[in-house]
Amino acid sequence: MQWTNNERGYGWLSIALHWIAAAIIIMMLLTGFRAEQLGEAGDRAGRAAAMGWHISIGGALALILLIRVISSYVQKRPTPIEQPRPLMLLAGATHHLLLIGILLQIVSGPLAVWSGGRAINIFDLFSLPSPFAERNGGAHELAETLHAIGRWIIIIFGSLHVLAVIRHAFGKTGVMRRMLAPPASN
Ligand code: HEM
Ligand code: HEM
Repeated sequence: MQWTNNERGYGWLSIALHWIAAAIIIMMLLTGFRAEQLGEAGDRAGRAAAMGWHISIGGALALILLIRVISSYVQKRPTPIEQPRPLMLLAGATHHLLLIGILLQIVSGPLAVWSGGRAINIFDLFSLPSPFAERNGGAHELAETLHAIGRWIIIIFGSLHVLAVIRHAFGKTGVMRRMLAPPASN
């Protein structure tokens, strides 16, 4: 069983964390945009409910996202798929930007809640108290700006990433197979 990456491909740890994190991020985008949409429609209770889901899921699973980012940086990176040099650079930069985008979200999200003077309430089961004694307007604005930047990094480069994988699938370069199972051991 190959758990960690080697130069020929990803190990099970990276593969599992990649797909678990992708599913969490999709849930975060859906609940976040749903909250925004309801807020714009003037449905305050609806927005609060969607935000409750967003914050509960995010608060409960942020640690998994952090482990996903750390695991990517501490392990060996497999040799990139052969393609023209500009595309190789673009693929590498896209991966780093996605990891930075995830980090931005898991720092700015909790900061946005805490700087509002509130605790992070996770499904009404437990809560992570705010380190701020009261609302801090400056930190709150900074957190909201960083959260908006992180969200757009993830949407723009995540779309590019998925389109690139689809394009590779047509070219039969084997890139998708790399994220589905470790390389054969011989
Ligand atoms: C990859 C992870 C995340 C993604 C993709 C994400 C995405 C989003 C989106 C799309 C919105 C827009 C809602 C609006 O404009 O009204 C939003 C807002 C918000 N999110 Fe997240 N989020 C993430 C993680 C988190 C975490 C971990 C928390 C806290 C536990 C959090 C707390 C908030 C809060 C408080 C808001 C409302 C304030 C604001 O708009 O900045 N988010 N998020
Ligand atoms: C749901 C659709 C997705 C598909 C089909 C997909 C597919 C892939 C594939 C095939 C690779 C291997 C690329 C290579 O070896 O060159 C990869 C790597 C990667 N993907 Fe995705 N991905 C998806 C979603 C995401 C999302 C939502 C993120 C983060 C926001 C993400 C972040 C990354 C990163 C950072 C890498 C580089 C390897 C690593 O550091 O773990 N992917 N993806």
